[in-house]
Amino acid sequence: MISNKLNKIAYGGDYSPEQWPQEIMTEDMRMFKLAGIDIATVAVFSWSLMQPDEETYQFEWLDEIMDKLYENGVYACLATSTGAHPAWMAHRHPDVLRVDFEGRKHTFGQRHNSCPNSPTYRLYAARLARKLAERYKDHPALAVWHVNNEYGGICYCDNCAKAFRVWLQQRYGSLDQLNKAWNTRFWGHTFYDWDEIVPPNLLSEHSAETRTTFQGISLDYQRFNSDGLLDCYLLEYNELKTVTPDVPVTTNMMWMFKQLDYAKWAKHVDVVSWDSYPSNTTPLSHVAMWHDVMRGLKDGQPFMLMEQTPSQQNWQAYNGLKRPGVMRLWSYQAVAHGADTVMFFQLRRSVGACEKYHGAVIEHVGHEHTRVFRECATLGGELQVLGDKLLGSRIEARVAIIIDWENWWAMEFSSGPTIDLSYMTELAKYYVAFYDQNIAVDMISVEADFSRYDVVIAPVLYMVKPGVADKLERYVEAGGRFVTTFFSGIVNESDLVTLGGYPGELRKLLGIWVEEIDALFPHMSNRIVMTEGREGFKKEYSSTLLCDILHTEGAEVWAEYGEEFYKGTPVLTRNSFGQGEAWYVASSPDKSFLADFATLLVKQAGIESVLAAPEGIEATRRVKDGQAYTMILNHNDSETEVNLGSNQRSELLGGQAVSGAVKIPAKGVWILEEASQ
Ligand code: GLA
Ligand code: ZN
Repeated sequence: MISNKLNKIAYGGDYSPEQWPQEIMTEDMRMFKLAGIDIATVAVFSWSLMQPDEETYQFEWLDEIMDKLYENGVYACLATSTGAHPAWMAHRHPDVLRVDFEGRKHTFGQRHNSCPNSPTYRLYAARLARKLAERYKDHPALAVWHVNNEYGGICYCDNCAKAFRVWLQQRYGSLDQLNKAWNTRFWGHTFYDWDEIVPPNLLSEHSAETRTTFQGISLDYQRFNSDGLLDCYLLEYNELKTVTPDVPVTTNMMWMFKQLDYAKWAKHVDVVSWDSYPSNTTPLSHVAMWHDVMRGLKDGQPFMLMEQTPSQQNWQAYNGLKRPGVMRLWSYQAVAHGADTVMFFQLRRSVGACEKYHGAVIEHVGHEHTRVFRECATLGGELQVLGDKLLGSRIEARVAIIIDWENWWAMEFSSGPTIDLSYMTELAKYYVAFYDQNIAVDMISVEADFSRYDVVIAPVLYMVKPGVADKLERYVEAGGRFVTTFFSGIVNESDLVTLGGYPGELRKLLGIWVEEIDALFPHMSNRIVMTEGREGFKKEYSSTLLCDILHTEGAEVWAEYGEEFYKGTPVLTRNSFGQGEAWYVASSPDKSFLADFATLLVKQAGIESVLAAPEGIEATRRVKDGQAYTMILNHNDSETEVNLGSNQRSELLGGQAVSGAVKIPAKGVWILEEASQ
C-alpha cells in the first residue's frame, strides 16, 4: 500500500486553487465529488507564496486548502514547492541561479531553475520542507509528500565546479587515479591541481550535448549532477522524515529521462511516481515499457501515476486531444503495469501563463458538461467500484530486461562507431518483442537478483561495471538464459576499453571474440541468414545499425551475415555455459527476427502468454493473496474478439461473468478476477 489512507486507487491530480479567487474551491469540491476525485497534489509551485522573504513564512492559505480538501474527502499529496525558487531569492542571492551548458548565467525565470550546489537554495529548501512538515504533521488530509517536481537540469556554475572537485576527490582519492581513469595523457590533458578541472560544457570539452572529447569527465559530470540533485532531494526527505516518519515520500519522475540515475534515486523514495505524457503518436508499447521501468525501480512495488493529461498537452508541437475512451484506456494501462494511483495534471485549467491550454478535468468553461469531464467522472466512478481489489497486487514476470543509466550516458557519449545508436530504441525493440505477445517483462537494474528470471536480456551492455560479468556468469551457470547484443562488454565504469578483445569481460560467458565493428549508413542493411534446422525461424531477416564481426570460441552459430565481406560469419550465437546459455545478437535485427527469437526463448523457458490475442490487445496480470486480475485492453479502433478459454471469470468493470470467445469493445478495458494458479 502506498499509504494506509489510500484504500483504493487514488484518483485526482495537481490542483492549484491559490491561483484563483478563494470561492472557487466550493465549486471545485462539488465537481471533485461528481468526478470521484479523492486526492489532490497541492502546492507544487508556491514557494514565493509560502515565503515572501528570508524570515517570513505564510501558510494560512494552504491551511484553508488542506482543511477544505479533508472536509470533502480528498487527501493531499502535499508538495514542498522547491521546484521553482522565488524571484526575491534570485534577486538577493544570485547563487541560486544556474549557469547553462553554453556557460551563460541565467537570470530569474521559468522553473526547475535552482543550482543544486547553491548554499542559499539548499538552506531554504530544507528549511521550507521542515516548516511544512511541522505545520501539517497532524493534518488528517496529508497522505503523501511530493518533494520538488520533476528534478532535472544541469548547472555549470562556480559552486558546481567546486563541488565537482570535491566529488572527484571522494571518487578517485588522488589526481593520479583520476588522470588514469580519464586517460588524460590523450591530447595532453594531465591535471596537476584539482582546481584545473572545469565542468565539461560547450566552453570546455563539449561541441554538442553528447559530443565530448573526454568521455571520462563528461560521464562523471552526469553522475555528479544526478548525485547533487539527489542530495537536494535528500535534504528535504530527511527533514520530512524526521517530523513525519510514517508519511510516504516521493518525487515525480519523467518519461525516458536520461539525466538522473533513477535506479540510484529510487533507493531513497518510499514510493516511485512518474508523469506520463505520450503524444497521440507515441507507441503504446513504449509507454508500457516505461511503466515497467517505474515498477522495476523498487523491485516490483506499485507506483503512482502522478500526472497525465485528461485530454491534451500544451508543450508538444501538435497537441492532439485524447480521443473518446483513450484517457480511460491509458489510465488502465498504467494500472495494468503496476500503478496504484491515477492522477492528472491538472484538475482545473489555469487562466494565464504557458499552461492555460493544457488539458484539465475542469476546463475553462467551468462546468461539468464537457466530454472530458464526463469521461473523467466515469473513470472516477469505476475506480470507486473497484475499491481496493488491485491495490498492492504484483506482476509476476519471468523475463527481465536490464536498464542502466550509466551505460546509457556512456554509450551515447561515445564518439563512434555510429551517431544513430540509441539505448532506448534498442531496449524498446527487445521489450516490444515480448509485449506484443503479452509476456510480462520486468525492467531491472544490474543490481537486481537475476535468479528470479528465466530470461535476462541486456541490450547493448556497453559498460560492464565491477562484479556484473561475474554475476551474469553465476546466473547462467545455474541455468539462466542471458541475451546481449552488439557493442556490449566494451568498457569499464570509467569508459576505458577492456583490453584483450571485445566483448571484454563477457567474452568467456558468450564464447565469442568480436574483432571489428562495422557501422552501417542509414540506407544500408545486412541479412541475418539462419543456419540449418532452426525451427520457428524464417530463413532470413534483415539487420541495421552496427554489425560486429566475430569469431566463435565455443559458441554455436545460429545465424550468419548474408552480405558484405563478412558474409557467412556469425551474427547470432548461443553458448552453453554451465546449466544455462548465453546468446549474442551481433547486429540490430528487424522486428520479425526479435518476435521469433522471443518466441523461442519463452518456449524454451516454458513461459506462457497472459493472453494469446490479436494485435492491439494488451493483457497483463496482477496478483495478490492468491487472487489474479487479468487486465485486457483493446487499443484498436474497432471491437476485437479474444478467446478467454473455458473458465468462467467475473469481469469487474461491467459486472458480468465471461468465458470463451468474447468481443472487447474498441478502446475497451476488461478486468477479470480469478483464482491464480
Ligand atoms: C510536467 C509538470 C507539471 C506540468 C505538466 C504539463 O509533468 O510536472 O507541472 O507542467 O508537465 O504537462
Ligand atoms: Zn551551479
